Amino acid sequence: MTTTAVAAPTVLIIDDEMGILDTIRILLKSEGFTPYTALGGKKGLEQIAAIRPELILTDVRMPDVTGLDILASVRAHDPEAVVILMTAQASLQSAIGAVNNGAFYYIQKPFRNEELVAIVRRAAEHRNLRRENKTLKAEAKKKDRSSKPIGASKPWLDALHVAESVAVTDSTVLLQGESGTGKEVVARYIHDLSPRAAKPFLSINCGALPESLLESELFGHVKGSFTGATRDKEGLFAAAGDGTFFLDEIGETTPATQVKLLRVLQQREVIPVGATEPRPVHARVIAATNRDLEEEIKRGNFRSDLYYRLNVISIVLPPLRARPNDVPLLAAAFLQRTAENNGDSPVDLDADALDALQRYSWPGNVRELENALERAAILEKGRSITVSSLPERVVEAKSDPLISPATQANPTLDTIERAYILWVLENEGGNKARTAEVLGIDTSTLYRKLSRYGLEK
Ligand SMILES: Nc1ncnc2c1ncn2[C@@H]1O[C@H](COP(=O)(O)OP(=O)(O)OP(=O)(O)O)[C@@H](O)[C@H]1O
Ligand SMILES: [Mg+2]
Repeated sequence: MTTTAVAAPTVLIIDDEMGILDTIRILLKSEGFTPYTALGGKKGLEQIAAIRPELILTDVRMPDVTGLDILASVRAHDPEAVVILMTAQASLQSAIGAVNNGAFYYIQKPFRNEELVAIVRRAAEHRNLRRENKTLKAEAKKKDRSSKPIGASKPWLDALHVAESVAVTDSTVLLQGESGTGKEVVARYIHDLSPRAAKPFLSINCGALPESLLESELFGHVKGSFTGATRDKEGLFAAAGDGTFFLDEIGETTPATQVKLLRVLQQREVIPVGATEPRPVHARVIAATNRDLEEEIKRGNFRSDLYYRLNVISIVLPPLRARPNDVPLLAAAFLQRTAENNGDSPVDLDADALDALQRYSWPGNVRELENALERAAILEKGRSITVSSLPERVVEAKSDPLISPATQANPTLDTIERAYILWVLENEGGNKARTAEVLGIDTSTLYRKLSRYGLEK
């Protein structure tokens, strides 16, 4: 099909003069195109809908529907169609304006045959290129989705860079970050980039099971070791084989389980529940937590020796509010994915809605953004997402007088800076180190600003 299209591209010629239509039709036919004609703009729009031509060659000035109207309508319905405007001196200016808006061509009347043929040829090539690009992009996207986590902000790329450089090693990795920041996504990314990629990636949520069940899941058990153990069971450390074993929510484990995990990491072997002989472990371990483990150590809830074993390589994933520039990228990706899943074309996001998304503090991070957009896309069904389809809490944050000092007609920069610092500080629960990080300044600068604005307390 594509080959036919390349060999004899379909061109619809629209003009309000029969003589011109005939001349161009005969010319393009002799040059190997497949021409159609429409007398006048209204007829043209009907023909476009009926034959979906690859190229459209239209007069600008026509009494009913103008060439610019046709252009607008075509761009709205088939962004791939290429439109060539034929214009007399009088409408040249508007045609040039239109060309600046997108990728198509214009030719000034009267024109010579060779000129017209050359431009139509260029337009045909252009269209093929666009098509190829689109397929390439779609393929790249498919590949991307399975591996590379989305984000282009510095804090995110910094974290990803560490993940990429440790992927090839066998080192234990500890992923820390608030809930929904992408710890599991990054764990899989590390696995996918590692020499273990073709081997299993297994994971367990340590917080989801009571201690006894968790241990038998992790280490396995032998038949008869407890009531209900009717046969030997291989643990996940063993089942992961030469692959990667992801210990999610490691901060939720009990001290007893922590001792056993420490042993696995030190000796690289497990003793199944009820067994006497240890079995070797080959899997690479990646652990994750949304708790502050150093704090948990101080409180006596987490063993420091296990922490040091896990923390060989530490990657801290930044919260979404520390990288608002990633919000549009993530939003576009999620809307695209939702559309693909539903077989629709993606809904877009209007400027106010995007603005609201970038201002909101996202306590649930990327997961919360993902859910908000999925919901909005369903509510809007093919239209574009406006603030009215976003969750209330997201929109309310927008009108928060602390971040948009709308109470004053023309707030000074200082007013805004003071309000913004206060707002971030509140979001971070008063933690100054984290506030400085979010603001992208160092702590000493933050302290100076706090004292300047009388915010020390
Ligand atoms: N950078 C990213 N690119 C694409 N999707 C992402 C990214 N980060 C997170 N997500 C998506 O956000 C959701 C939450 O991510 P993930 O489960 O990895 O977070 P988490 O840090 O493990 O959260 P929790 O602590 O609650 O387990 C998932 O649906 C994931 O696909
Ligand atoms: Mg997780």
